[in-house]
Amino acid sequence: MITTIQEVKRKFDVEDVRKDFPILTRLVNGKSLVYLDNAATSQKPQTVIDALTQYYTFDNANIHRGLYFLSELATEQYESARLKVKEFINAMSVSEIVFVRGATEAINLVASSLCRAKHFKDGDEVIISHMEHHANIVPWQLLGDRKNINLKVIPINDAGELDMDAFEKLFCEKTKLVSVVHISNALGTINPVKKIIEIAHAKKIPVLIDGAQAIPHHKVDVQELDADFYVFSGHKVFGPTGIGVLYGKTEFLEMMPPYQGGGDMIRTVTFEKTTFDDIPRKFEAGTPNIAGGIALGAAIDYVMQFDRPELAEYENELLVYGTEKLSQIEGLRIIGTAKEKASVISFVIDGIHPYDIGTIIDTDGIAIRTGHHCTQPIMQRFNLPATARASFAFYNTKEEIDNLVLGIHKVKKMFA
Ligand code: ALA
Repeated sequence: MITTIQEVKRKFDVEDVRKDFPILTRLVNGKSLVYLDNAATSQKPQTVIDALTQYYTFDNANIHRGLYFLSELATEQYESARLKVKEFINAMSVSEIVFVRGATEAINLVASSLCRAKHFKDGDEVIISHMEHHANIVPWQLLGDRKNINLKVIPINDAGELDMDAFEKLFCEKTKLVSVVHISNALGTINPVKKIIEIAHAKKIPVLIDGAQAIPHHKVDVQELDADFYVFSGHKVFGPTGIGVLYGKTEFLEMMPPYQGGGDMIRTVTFEKTTFDDIPRKFEAGTPNIAGGIALGAAIDYVMQFDRPELAEYENELLVYGTEKLSQIEGLRIIGTAKEKASVISFVIDGIHPYDIGTIIDTDGIAIRTGHHCTQPIMQRFNLPATARASFAFYNTKEEIDNLVLGIHKVKKMFA
C-alpha cells in the first residue's frame, strides 16, 4: 500500500511542537539546551526516531531483492518514501527522485555523470555564486582530472545579495551549467532562483539548485521553478543523516550514465557488457540507506502535517526578533543583511573571535555554529576568518534568542 501526504493541517503551536522533539528537553552543562544550529543539522521529531527504530526492530530486510514478506515490506516502505519526496517537491514523476547520501553526494553525482556524458569540453564553464557551500565548488574542481572546467562566479553586494546584472554577463558560448544555492547557509540570503532559472533557460543552459537550506524552511515546487536538478539532505529537514535527494528532470537522468556501479542498478551483467536499470535505479548502486529513506518519509509526513507558510511566518518572526535583539549589542555586526532572508543570523563582535563566543555560550547550553561554515570564499569576500551563526527552526522560541543575547553579554563582559 502506498501512503499519501496528509491533507488535514495541524495548528502550529510552538510549545506543543517542542514536545515532539525529545532532545529539546535535555540539559547541557546543567542548563536547558538552546539549540540554534539548525543550518548545520535539524533535530528529529519522535516520529522520525520511531520510524528508524521500527525498521531496525521489526522490519529489517534488504529491498528490491527478496520475494519474502519482510523484503517486500521494506521495499514498499522505501518506495513509499520516494513517492512522499516526489509529492513534497512536486516532481513530475517518482523516477526523477534519486536517493543519495545527501546534497553533497547529489552534486558530485551530477558533476561526475554530466562529465561522463560529455556534457563538458575542456575549457567549458559552470556558473556558480560567491556564496556557494564547498559542496558546490569542489565537485566541479575535482573534474579537473578529466576535464578542465572553469568556474565563473556571480558576485554579491555587501548585503550578501547576488548581482543579477553581473550574472547575465557571465554567460558565453562556453557556459554549460548554472549551479547555485537556493538559500545561503552562511548568510541566510534567499536567492531569486526562479529568475536565475528563467535567465539560464532563455540561453538554453540547465540549472542545478542546491536546496539544502531551503527545503527545511519553504515549500519547494521543482516544476514551478523549472529546475533541471534540485538537491537536498534529509538531516536538515528533520530526517536522519546519510540520506538525501537528487531530483533531476527525466530528460537529463535518462541521458546521464551511472555514477557508481554495483548491485541493484543493472539489468544484465556479463563479463563483456552490462546493461543498466531504468532511472532512478541506475543511480542507486548497492544496498541503500533503507532505514534513512523510510525515516525521511516520516520527516516529510511530520513537516507536511503543518501549513508550511505558517511555519515560515513563525521562523521569520524569530529572524526579525533575533536581528533586532542582536543588533542592539554594541560592537556586534550582522554579516548578511539581504532583503530576502531565511532564519539564519551570522555575526561577528569586535575584538572577540567567534570560537570564543561559541565556546563560552556553550557553557550555558547554547549551541551555535562558529567557523567558516564550509563557505571559505564568502568569508574571504567579507574579509573575515569566521563568523558566529545562530540558525532557527520552527521549534525555537524568542526566549531562546533572549538566552543567546544574555550569553553574548556574558562573553563581552569576560573580554571587557
Ligand atoms: N553546511 C552545514 C552548515 O552550514 C553543515 O553548518
